Amino acid sequence: MLKTNIKTVTAFAPATSANLGVGFDIMGLALDAVGDKVTLTRRDDGQIVIDKINSPTGLPLEPNKNTASFALTKMCESLNITCGFSIQIDKGIAMGSGMGGSAASAAAAVVAMNAFLETPVSKEKLVEYALYGEEIASGGKHADNVAPCIFGGITLIRSSQDPVEVINLPHPDLECVIIHPHLQVETKSARGILKPEVSMKLYIEQSAQLAATIASLYRNDIELLRRSMQDLIIEPQRAQLVTGYFDVKKAALNAGAITATLSGSGPSLIAFATNKDEALKVRDAMVNAFSTHNIEADSWISPINPNGAYCL
Ligand code: HSE
Repeated sequence: MLKTNIKTVTAFAPATSANLGVGFDIMGLALDAVGDKVTLTRRDDGQIVIDKINSPTGLPLEPNKNTASFALTKMCESLNITCGFSIQIDKGIAMGSGMGGSAASAAAAVVAMNAFLETPVSKEKLVEYALYGEEIASGGKHADNVAPCIFGGITLIRSSQDPVEVINLPHPDLECVIIHPHLQVETKSARGILKPEVSMKLYIEQSAQLAATIASLYRNDIELLRRSMQDLIIEPQRAQLVTGYFDVKKAALNAGAITATLSGSGPSLIAFATNKDEALKVRDAMVNAFSTHNIEADSWISPINPNGAYCL
């Protein structure tokens, strides 16, 4: 049942960084830097219509191709909500940046919808609905952007369906440095180039890095984090999509970053530093390294956002 006194709700959903080097499709974190806003206005004709998208890049207006409207449609179907909604999307996250743009729009839509409900659904359910949007955007129901986007913090996704199970992980105080080079990498194609199989040797080595990374977060152990956040499987395959990738990563590490890796499927990189001063040095080094390849880059320094998406 919908609350009768609410006509319009706006929700904000933050940018996120998926994978974190060791947790392909199962780990991600929420950022404080930028995000998307979605405004839902109730209609009476049963239609779900995208009224307006404020975005520097073109996005689909067809409701079954847009992540926000598709996730909202699935949520309404599942809850038997038939009134219809008009949608306005204000994109703060560049599409194809590796900062969870498609997930943020879907998450903001379902979080806004939840505010209309007399009995709101759980965050796990919201992840389930938002994942429909992620599926049309990237071809896979990976929750490593939508889960941190909705839960906040660093999340581990034990299961992304039937039922969704998300575990919020503790973490040391970290500054995230996000560098977005002006290159476009489509998640769908970045997934398409990955080999479908992993050798037993790599499986063992990568499991050890993932387990040690999680232990480092629980133990607040920066040195263990430094040693263990190593991507042995995905980075070697995707680095070719980002011109200068290894130079930029090396520049980050030389400037004192704890670690640096692809943010989601790229082209952005995420690096971690223990404080703001170090983060500034890391950021400058990474931006300079891209510029030696004649690539401009935007950058953000952000703590991990503990709250995730919320209604304004
Ligand atoms: N885990 C996904 C991938 C995240 O790397 O393809 C995409 O943002």
